Amino acid sequence: MSTPDPNRVLIFDTTLRDGEQSPGCSMTQPEKLRVARALAELGVDVIEAGFPAASRGDWEAVNQVAREVRGPIIAGLARCNREDIDKAWSAVRDAARPRLHVFLATSAIHREHKLGMAKEQIIHTAVEGVRYARSLCADIEFSPEDASRTELEFLREVVEAVIEAGATTINVPDTVGYTVPEEFHEVFSFLKKNVKGADRVVFSVHCHNDLGMAVANSLAAVRAGARQVECTINGIGERAGNCSLEEIVMAMKTRESLFGFHTGIDTKRLFPTSRLLSSITGMAIPRNKAVVGENAFAHESGIHQHGMLKHHSTYEIMRPEDVGVSRTHLVLGKHSGRAALRDRIKELGFELTDAELARVFEDFKALADKKKELFDGDIEALVLRADFGASGPWHLEGLHAVSDSAGGAMARVKLRHSDGRTLEKETRGDGPVDAAFKAVEAVTGIDVKLRKFEVRSVSMGEDAQGEAVVTVEHNGRAYRGTSITTDIVESAVRAFLEVVNRIESMRATAARMARNPEAEAAVTAI
Ligand code: KIV
Ligand code: ZN
Repeated sequence: MSTPDPNRVLIFDTTLRDGEQSPGCSMTQPEKLRVARALAELGVDVIEAGFPAASRGDWEAVNQVAREVRGPIIAGLARCNREDIDKAWSAVRDAARPRLHVFLATSAIHREHKLGMAKEQIIHTAVEGVRYARSLCADIEFSPEDASRTELEFLREVVEAVIEAGATTINVPDTVGYTVPEEFHEVFSFLKKNVKGADRVVFSVHCHNDLGMAVANSLAAVRAGARQVECTINGIGERAGNCSLEEIVMAMKTRESLFGFHTGIDTKRLFPTSRLLSSITGMAIPRNKAVVGENAFAHESGIHQHGMLKHHSTYEIMRPEDVGVSRTHLVLGKHSGRAALRDRIKELGFELTDAELARVFEDFKALADKKKELFDGDIEALVLRADFGASGPWHLEGLHAVSDSAGGAMARVKLRHSDGRTLEKETRGDGPVDAAFKAVEAVTGIDVKLRKFEVRSVSMGEDAQGEAVVTVEHNGRAYRGTSITTDIVESAVRAFLEVVNRIESMRATAARMARNPEAEAAVTAI
């Protein structure tokens, strides 16, 4: 892909691939689709939707994004072999603009300890892989994994050979987050200057954050000629994460007069997209996180507040509204109407259909009955947690939980199944939450091991809403559920129920596959 504007930097988002593969960030297929849609609205140029050869679930998720999300290029990752490339191609080929991203490690450490391959074999395998990928797809990205620890001259040779074989984007990864800005600037300057065919490809940078320099290293690469940055929302990714999309984009925008670079990102959507991902993954955003953290635009000290009152530029290098953060906190109440809610939701950066708004308005009225004042955090939580599709068979009909100071607790839970059954159980436990979880297990017949249970407040005031995040293990797989209400026991039970519904959906899919062996065989053969 060529960039006619020499200062336009392409944003390649890998939240759904490098981000999703990190601990605690896995997403279901509907969640991946929701994130992909949000990324398209954000204006990213490329969505790396996953690694189709990794599992059937990954293939299905990439394929659904390719079929349903329009706007960005949709990329699928593949190792340098025909089987992986075929799987990636069958997953992305339905996209309006598909890309194959093929990678092979090149550093001496990886050649010797991981691949057991000599330099010549690496070049041969890379060239074969790229040539084959190019016979299927016109848009080919190649990544020499662990490039930052690869001998420069060998890196040049590999890159030159894959350009000759048909690669259109050359991505240079700092796979282990080892490099520093000056060094990476030199690597890109060297490649741009010395690689034959460098002018026919887009150079891309992909940095990990092990030493906290992923954004700085990416910026250095852009200054040396890279015109694509690979990054993730909230910087999620392997180990310490990847280059954070919101930080690199705002660094280029805020210092445009220094660097002259710009992107196609609608920066007003940064905050809502960051919140959406955090709510889906349950991975909280640190309060002091640059650009999207809760404190990013808060001014506590008297001197700073005084300066801000005189002029915001005294202590503010970005306007909160430019990244989609609203300055107003106090919003709506019980007497607010649908139009006011629609306006507020829009100001917070969300676009809802009339049907979705109607659904949120119902929840809004129910919440406003319990809570005097509804803050931005409450409205966001209503939108983010709204169930716009079918969420599974079990629905909470009633909950009664009590505990006494001697440490005993009892919970009675009433659940309705979508097949019409209504079941109720009463159990005892070590606390009201434990008792209620046991009651849900007793009703649904699904046993899980609780791995993590967290509760945090999402808005202000004594009657603030509590977000519960429940992580469990069932048959060796991890499942996560979240919920937000003003009552933390109810939040916990709803989050637990989301987990149970996920397990039920997995079982239903497995049963469907077993009843239809042909469909099963077709998917396995992909
Ligand atoms: O970090 C890395 O090297 C990668 C490649 C697959 C691009 O994620
Ligand atoms: Zn990576």
